[in-house]
Amino acid sequence: MNTPPAESGLARTGVPPSHWRVRAQQTVTYEVHMMDNVLDPANPALIEAGATVPTDRPRRFVVVDATIHDLYGRELSRYLDHHNCEYRLCVLSASEEAKTMEAVFTVVSGLDSFGISRRHEPVIGIGGGIILDIVGLASSLYRRSTPYVRVPTSLLGLVDAGVGIKTGVNFACHKNRLGSYFASSVALLDRSFLATMDERHISNGLAEILKIALVKDARLFWLLEEYAELLLTERLTGQTLTGDVVATDVFSRAVGGMLEELQPNLWEKQLERLVDYGHSFSPTLEMRALPALLHGEAVTVDMALTTVLAEGRGLVARQERERIFDLMRRLRLPVWHPLLEPELLEHALRETTRHRDGLQRMPIPVGIGGARFVNDVTLAELSDAAGILRELDRARATTSGHRHAPGKPVVTDVDGASDADGTCVIRHDGMSSTWEAITWSSLPPGASCDVPARSGTDTFCFILAGEGELLLDDVPHPLLPGHLIAHRSGTVHRFKNLGTADLSWLVIAVPRPPAAPELSENAPTTECVA
Ligand SMILES: NC(=O)c1ccc[n+]([C@@H]2O[C@H](COP(=O)([O-])OP(=O)(O)OC[C@H]3O[C@@H](n4cnc5c(N)ncnc54)[C@H](O)[C@@H]3O)[C@@H](O)[C@H]2O)c1
Ligand SMILES: [Zn+2]
Repeated sequence: MNTPPAESGLARTGVPPSHWRVRAQQTVTYEVHMMDNVLDPANPALIEAGATVPTDRPRRFVVVDATIHDLYGRELSRYLDHHNCEYRLCVLSASEEAKTMEAVFTVVSGLDSFGISRRHEPVIGIGGGIILDIVGLASSLYRRSTPYVRVPTSLLGLVDAGVGIKTGVNFACHKNRLGSYFASSVALLDRSFLATMDERHISNGLAEILKIALVKDARLFWLLEEYAELLLTERLTGQTLTGDVVATDVFSRAVGGMLEELQPNLWEKQLERLVDYGHSFSPTLEMRALPALLHGEAVTVDMALTTVLAEGRGLVARQERERIFDLMRRLRLPVWHPLLEPELLEHALRETTRHRDGLQRMPIPVGIGGARFVNDVTLAELSDAAGILRELDRARATTSGHRHAPGKPVVTDVDGASDADGTCVIRHDGMSSTWEAITWSSLPPGASCDVPARSGTDTFCFILAGEGELLLDDVPHPLLPGHLIAHRSGTVHRFKNLGTADLSWLVIAVPRPPAAPELSENAPTTECVA
């Protein structure tokens, strides 16, 4: 006798049965709470989160970001002690390079030695998206599933990584290649952590908020447009009445908008996902540009590219594109990156298409606050869009006076950085060759170049703006505005821009009097004079 298929149950076919079909369903329920003062001992939310059996002596394994441990470790211990908790802290440093299975094994080894009840002692993860992704994967693997609680502390964690059910680590240069779908029991979103976040990471999180605004929430876009500077200055912590009202609205729309998209499609059975906007090319770009680009910065470059592409298709008006780019810049996010070359675009498109099961399923914007999915983007169209993007970025940088120093180039073959943009600022007649001069040089984010030191010339570089690294005979030194670098001939100086803005400097090349000795071996090569 054959049993009819059911929603759940065991169907049998044949007499006696020789074919069985197992059907089971799993309901996923998790809570996402916005709340203040998660580490205030008077607030029981954290110690109660995910705990199903009341006890006087709770036990918790807490994985915490090293920076958060430095900043809030004492508060955290006080909180756990106050609640009579027996706990073990596992402190991990967060970086994309360290977001690997090794980190997951560190967590599970700690769990194993601490010993944890299988269902009643949830693991707690406190940190940015990286720590949450690692803890989530470790919890999903440990005994095939161990409950956990997420406490995001970065803006990106609060609006994105902390609210969905994805976990993961990087593998073989692929972003989040190993992972699982595993919901935390509870996510506690406390924006007051953002008070200690640096500005760049606030912008980074705003990128994911901007994503939601662009594809589905025109009002959110308006809020960002209207209050970009206030949100950045107050780090969305609501220090003024207006700042508080705006940040609360922004959070509610960003988290709510994200959850509206995630809830009907938690396991990504439907591969056409609006929340994938900005995530078609950025995974490849982010991994190749490491550590120069943060996640949200790579996502913004992707969104800028697809905005130009949408403009080319008549889906976004020129004025709308200008508003979008203007907002990206005001949020201090990059719209272009030098790695955006045809080879990368081709590779990224292939990877994304494979990831989306053979079709591009690429969300692209329609106006501001709408989107559609396309499957017919060609490499030529992408390369054209990247070319236009590069020109828009250059034109903008030129008109804002950012990339090019004032003054007409006098000569072009001056001593400067081989691959950097350069302008000769001063060259007086007494100098004996064209490269003995003061030149202005600039490198875009992510780029690097050699700065030659010529014999017979003393060369000094004075850093004007940006943030980067000097590799002096392969030894790295930080480069910051105000640093003066004296070049000895015969040494190889390589400049790398590690920031999000242009790195610019003056090269001052002076002819050495014939009798003067070379700069001494022992002379400091980098000096801060600011
Ligand atoms: N699982 C998901 O659904 C999902 C979604 C989006 C992003 N992600 C992942 O999240 C990661 C990016 O997250 P992120 O931007 O939070 O990076 P992150 O975890 O590296 O945190 C950013 C930096 O800020 C520090 N930090 C965190 N909170 C701080 C605070 N309150 N004060 C001072 N410093 C603080 C961290 O130590 C780190 O140096 C990426 O790996 C990305 O793949 C996952
Ligand atoms: Zn993202």
